[in-house]
Amino acid sequence: MSAEPTTPITHLRYVGIAAPDFERATEFYRTAWGLEQVAEDGGIAFFGSPAAPENYLLRVRKDSAKRMDVVAFGVRQASDVDALAERLGQAGVRIDREPGKLDTPGGGHGFRFWDLDGRLIEISSDVAERTARELEPKESIPRKLSHVVFNSTDAPATLAFYEKHLGLRLTDWLADRLCFLRSGVDHHILAIAQAPHVALNHVSFEMRGLDEYMRGTGRLVRDGHRLLWGPGRHGPGDNTFSYFYDPFGNVMEYTTELEQIPDEKTWEPRVFELTPENSDQWGTSNSINEVFIPAQFNDPDQGLWTPSPV
Ligand SMILES: [Fe+2]
Repeated sequence: MSAEPTTPITHLRYVGIAAPDFERATEFYRTAWGLEQVAEDGGIAFFGSPAAPENYLLRVRKDSAKRMDVVAFGVRQASDVDALAERLGQAGVRIDREPGKLDTPGGGHGFRFWDLDGRLIEISSDVAERTARELEPKESIPRKLSHVVFNSTDAPATLAFYEKHLGLRLTDWLADRLCFLRSGVDHHILAIAQAPHVALNHVSFEMRGLDEYMRGTGRLVRDGHRLLWGPGRHGPGDNTFSYFYDPFGNVMEYTTELEQIPDEKTWEPRVFELTPENSDQWGTSNSINEVFIPAQFNDPDQGLWTPSPV
């Protein structure tokens, strides 16, 4: 018999960003990155994957300021939305929007709150699903959203917030630099990096398999996009990685084969040392220090504690 879930969170639903050059952003995600634009509504583009039942995985909003708009997690049912909103409100967490009907594609029932660093987080249920199909062999486009990583000036405090308020569970640490949190069997859906300022670290998209991950990586390289770090295979999470900039200096990742954590009850979080092998098991990537360390810190987020208009 499986254990009672300790978190109402089922999965990472989407990441919303705002960009000053909306046309360039949408062009990048549609053509180079391989997402499918599923809706556009008054300066917001919504991107999904033909393989994902999730209505959309990424949204890009036109704004004069570059910012992370909102990160959305799914729960099973409307009563979970309401219960979580009430619990967070009672715990003193700042609520942006009380539970109600969502007017974004797919609708649903949701609410929004700010985490301790001022990131806007949405929790939702009952979002309509799209008809999804399996990706074909060699089809090198994202299959689903894998995970999002936040930069935090106090990673242990941010970890404690998500453990306490959302019930996410610590899977592993990479030294004292990066911690990985899960809601189910995936090694992580959220990770928190110790950083000089609060910002979006990166967003990761899962590819069909190793071949498709390499083909996607090669497509971007051939198109002239700089490979910031990769191809390689991480120690913690055991997943592959190729990191690129979007047109606004946000880091985006192609990954595949993320480690699965099957036995919830017996899992003990590990601490991986900072070694070249834990950085990249394969040894095929460039050094993490060259470009990626500064790139992943991103610009200080301009949207903290500020509601998103949509
Ligand atoms: Fe990642």
